[in-house]
Amino acid sequence: MIEADLAVAGISELATPEGRTARLGSDLGRLRTVRDAAVACNKGRVVFVGTEREFRQAVTLTPGGRTLDARGATVLPGFVDAHTHLPFAGWRESEFNERLQGATYSQIAARGGGILATVAATRAASLSDLALLTRTRLDAMILLGTTLAEAKSGYGLSTEAEIKQLEAIRDGAAGHPVEVVPTFLGAHTIPKELRDDRARYVDEIVGEMLPEISKRKLARYADAFVDAHAFSPTEARRVLEAASRAGLGVRLHADQLADDGGALLAAELHAASADHLEHVSAEGIEALARAGTAAVLLPAATFFLMSQVKPPARRLIDAGVAVAIATDFNPGTCPTEAMGTVLEFACLSLGLSIDEAIAAATLNAAHALGRADEVGSIEVGKRADFVIHAVPNRYHMVYRFGVRRVRTVIAGGKVVVEDGRLLPGAVNA
Ligand code: NIG
Ligand code: FE
Repeated sequence: MIEADLAVAGISELATPEGRTARLGSDLGRLRTVRDAAVACNKGRVVFVGTEREFRQAVTLTPGGRTLDARGATVLPGFVDAHTHLPFAGWRESEFNERLQGATYSQIAARGGGILATVAATRAASLSDLALLTRTRLDAMILLGTTLAEAKSGYGLSTEAEIKQLEAIRDGAAGHPVEVVPTFLGAHTIPKELRDDRARYVDEIVGEMLPEISKRKLARYADAFVDAHAFSPTEARRVLEAASRAGLGVRLHADQLADDGGALLAAELHAASADHLEHVSAEGIEALARAGTAAVLLPAATFFLMSQVKPPARRLIDAGVAVAIATDFNPGTCPTEAMGTVLEFACLSLGLSIDEAIAAATLNAAHALGRADEVGSIEVGKRADFVIHAVPNRYHMVYRFGVRRVRTVIAGGKVVVEDGRLLPGAVNA
């Protein structure tokens, strides 16, 4: 018999991608689905996935173990949000209102708003304020079914303030059931005070920030924003090559507002991911496929920017690129933590099938963060991160758009959200 300390039975439908790496091409949408299913875990790991009938024959509960009833519900892996700008202070709703009246994101950035407005607010916030904001947003994420999230700095733009943001990620995530992968995004834009001395800022990133961050293990990845209002490919290459030498993985904000050669650079650097990609060239797509660099698409941000140009999701999938989807959670271009909403936009706006979107939001996203060996699917041996959604099958995840679906969240084999509420004790102080 298989021993379990927690089980979920009576599941109307369980759906999961399978594997320990990204699913590519026509395999992206091949999920394992089980009707009348059960899943069991022990000491934080999945020990059984199958039909309820098999479960009754094969699994026994350890003393004190518990079985949850998921009648009428759908179980999916926890969402993996592979791109967020989590530790910022202040919102930018008035800029959004201006955009609704015709101002563009680039115009607002050019007059010193946009990212720089959030930099001012974030520099003014204390480490403990930022850590609390981070923790509160992680609470929001877990209530929405996310169990692993990436979190970027990039609103400090000085050694002190970038490190404060990374410490806020560390402190805010400590003891939280959402696992957090920290990314250093010092190369987000040029700070106002160095606008006329860009080289000096790049020197500061390479000479001061990176050595300190890698020494203190405050980040696992480094990212850079290649854009007319941010960094040239040459500047980004310098930053990311230094990051690589310092032992960090690299990722890139690429080809979001124009084709700046970002995808080509990401491929050349063998980046873990190239993100956004609205304007990626055909050459860029080929290069990503060849390099094995994942494409992280952010369809809620594309929508929120009212962009007429969408990332070419189907062409990326057909070319064999590992496609993931994420929120881009940030105060300018995507003020939502809701991966369920991202699933909806991935299908309704980018043309993914529901099964493809589920794989892109779980296993492929975990792959983009280097975590697909541990999480991203419901399989024996993997960490027990999964969600009971109050819908009868996976198609309702998008078909019934805009409604609340998350009922119960299991993270690391523990029930942390039940009946849509974060349980006391789910977060260790
Ligand atoms: O991913 N593209 C650059 N950075 C963010 C936006 C940041 C902001 O507007 O504050 C993004 O969309
Ligand atoms: Fe981003």
